[in-house]
Amino acid sequence: MTADFGMPKMGFGTWNRDKETTYRCVLDALDIGYTHIDTAPSYENEDAVGKAIRDSDIARNSVFVTTKVDPHDYGEGEVLPAVEKSLEKLAMDKVDLLLLHFPSLYDKYPLKSYVSQFIEVYDKGLTQHIGVSNFTIKHIEESLPLFEDRPIYTNQVEIHAYMQNKPIVEYCQSKNIQLTAYSPIARGELLGDKVLTEIAQSHNATTSQIALAFLLSCGYAVIPSSDKRARIQDNFDAAKIDLSAQEMLAISALERGMRLNNADYCPLWDV
Ligand SMILES: NC(=O)c1ccc[n+]([C@@H]2O[C@H](COP(=O)([O-])OP(=O)(O)OC[C@H]3O[C@@H](n4cnc5c(N)ncnc54)[C@H](OP(=O)(O)O)[C@@H]3O)[C@@H](O)[C@H]2O)c1
Repeated sequence: MTADFGMPKMGFGTWNRDKETTYRCVLDALDIGYTHIDTAPSYENEDAVGKAIRDSDIARNSVFVTTKVDPHDYGEGEVLPAVEKSLEKLAMDKVDLLLLHFPSLYDKYPLKSYVSQFIEVYDKGLTQHIGVSNFTIKHIEESLPLFEDRPIYTNQVEIHAYMQNKPIVEYCQSKNIQLTAYSPIARGELLGDKVLTEIAQSHNATTSQIALAFLLSCGYAVIPSSDKRARIQDNFDAAKIDLSAQEMLAISALERGMRLNNADYCPLWDV
């Protein structure tokens, strides 16, 4: 069973949370009204996400669940067993969205090999949608012929006011690939920003809400994370804020290429 709907624009991220915290936060998020939860095998909390969904008052078909395939599992014959392991941990027969978490680290595996295995998983029906994460233009260009008529549902990439990632955004939009913005409040780095804070004051909102409202107004899905119920609620309420064209322009001007997810195995973003 999967969600009865497509990917909600407001999601909840679970990276860097231990199992106990994940369980509590996902229960809070579902109670507040989030209907989209993002996890990954490398977060080591898929079991806690699955348990929180089961223990909540929300039916499985009312939650959009994303997990990923870890690039360490891209070897020949490794993708399907890795996805089966994720489903076992989540205790689900199928997820709503499955992403390739990264292009192969240091190009260890040929893209054709792991993308083809990924497509086989989709064709077997283990996920409602398939997409990618941290893919650059080059990676998507190489992948598209392999996907044939199967849509690349989203590219989940770092996007926030300080790193707007315009070349990959525009490329994905030209190919009808939705954008999902990870680290949407720049892990707190932009909370002291003067422009965002002034806009927040004029809306009687928080800086975090303005940072999220900006991305939502751009049409992206967002997956902020917090382990505090009040902030989980605060972030959820960002969807109610309408920014003016002038405010959108002022926030666009904050771009400074401040990449946070910059381990040496991460592909370089297009500029
Ligand atoms: N695909 C990928 O490679 C990838 C990479 C990174 C992240 N992600 C996904 O994206 C999700 C979000 O990204 P992220 O965790 O890197 O960054 P983020 O959501 O931008 O920031 C999270 C940080 O901001 C704080 N925060 C959250 N809401 C706040 C609020 N309203 N006011 C003040 N501080 C607030 C949190 O602290 P507290 O917990 O103390 O509130 C936490 O330290 C992840 O959980 C994960 O699901 C995916």
